[in-house]
Amino acid sequence: AAPSPIGIDPLQSVAKELKFLTGNIQQLLGSGHPMLDTVAKYYTQSEGKYVRPMLVLLMSQATALTVKQDRSTPRALDVDSPISPSAVLSDANHSSPLTSPPTVDDTSDTTVLPSQRRLAEITELIHTASLLHDDVIDNSISRRSAPSANIQFGNKMAVLAGDFMLGRASVALARLRDPEVTELLATVIANLIEGEFMQLRNTASDEKYPAYSQETMEYYLQKTYLKSASLISKSTRAAAILGNCSPDVVDAAYSYGKNLGLAFQLVDDMLDYTVSGAELGKPAGADLELGLATAPLLFAWKDNKELGTLVGRRFAEQGDVKRAHDLVIQSNGIEQTRAMAEDYINKAREAIAFFPESQAKAGLLDMCTKVLQRRK
Ligand code: FPP
Ligand code: MG
Ligand code: MG
Repeated sequence: AAPSPIGIDPLQSVAKELKFLTGNIQQLLGSGHPMLDTVAKYYTQSEGKYVRPMLVLLMSQATALTVKQDRSTPRALDVDSPISPSAVLSDANHSSPLTSPPTVDDTSDTTVLPSQRRLAEITELIHTASLLHDDVIDNSISRRSAPSANIQFGNKMAVLAGDFMLGRASVALARLRDPEVTELLATVIANLIEGEFMQLRNTASDEKYPAYSQETMEYYLQKTYLKSASLISKSTRAAAILGNCSPDVVDAAYSYGKNLGLAFQLVDDMLDYTVSGAELGKPAGADLELGLATAPLLFAWKDNKELGTLVGRRFAEQGDVKRAHDLVIQSNGIEQTRAMAEDYINKAREAIAFFPESQAKAGLLDMCTKVLQRRK
C-alpha cells in the first residue's frame, strides 16, 4: 500500500491481523471429506483483496477509541472454546472447524477483540460463498486470475462448497453468542439472494420496451445495496456492536459501510466497461453479455431512448452488446457513474468524521480513496 503523506501506512494497523486471516479461514473450512475440503478452500488459496475483513478490523480499532471501558480483558467468548465435531464423517482425523481460537500474534497490542476478529473471518466466508454461487450463475470462467471454481470442479461442487461455507459461517456466527449480530449477518445472506433475484431483471417491470424513469435508477441502487453494500454495512455495524459502542457510533459504522459499499459496486460496474479482463483477473465486459444494465448504461439510457429496446431484450440479439457498449462509451455514463461513486464516498467519509483521530480512522479514510482509485 502507498504510504500516506505523513509517512505512515494507515493500513499498517491491520497488517498483523490480516497475516493470520487466511489460516484462520482455512481452519473454519476444514472438512473430513477431502474433495469438499479442496473445493471449499479453493478461493482462499489465491488471496483476495480482503476488503470486507479489512473494513471490519479497521472499524473495530477505530471505534474502540470511542469506548471508555477497559477492554484489555475481553469477556470469555465461545469462539475460544472447543466443540465436538458435528460432521457426518466423525473419525479421529476429522478436525472440528472451531476447536482452536483464531490465531493472533500474542506480542501485538491489538485493540481488536476475538469476536471482532472472528467477525472479519465470517464476512470473508459469506463473501466467498456468494462468489462460488455467482460464478455458477454468471457462467464465469475466471476469478482471481485463475479458473473459477465452477470450471475447475463443476457447477455441482461449486454450489455445494458455497453452501458448506455458509454453514460454517453460521456456526462461527452462532458462537459469537450475540443475537443482534447473528440477526444482522443472517439478514445479509438473505439480502445477497434478494439482490441477485432483482438482478435477474434490469427494471422493476418486465416490459419489452421499458422507458427510463427515476425508478430505473432507484431499482438499480436498491439491488446494489442488497448485493454489495448490505454485507459491508451490516458487518461494519456488527463490529461496532461487538465493541460495545454507543448507538451513534454503531449508526456511523453502518452509514460508513453502506456508502462505501454502494461506491464499491458502482466502481465495479464501471471497471467492467473500462478495464481489461487481464487486469481485472476476471472477464471484462461481462455485464452486457449477461444482459445486465448497470449504472454506466443507465446514465447513457437517460439521454438516449434507443437503449430501452436493447435493455428490454437484455442485449440478446446479434450486435446488441456491441451497440450498447458503443453507446455507453460515447455517452457520459462512465463519468456520471464515477461522480455518483464519489458522492457516496464523501458521505462515507462524513459519517466517521467525528471519530477520534487514529491510525485506524486514517485507514478507513484511506479505504475510501482506494475504492475510487482501484482498477481491479
Ligand atoms: C458478484 O457480483 C456477486 C455478488 C456481489 C453477490 C452474489 C450473490 C449470490 C450469487 C447469491 C447467493 C449468495 C450466497 C451467500 C450463497 P458480480 O457478478 O457483479 O461480480 P463479479 O464480476 O465479481 O462476478
Ligand atoms: Mg459475476
Ligand atoms: Mg453476478
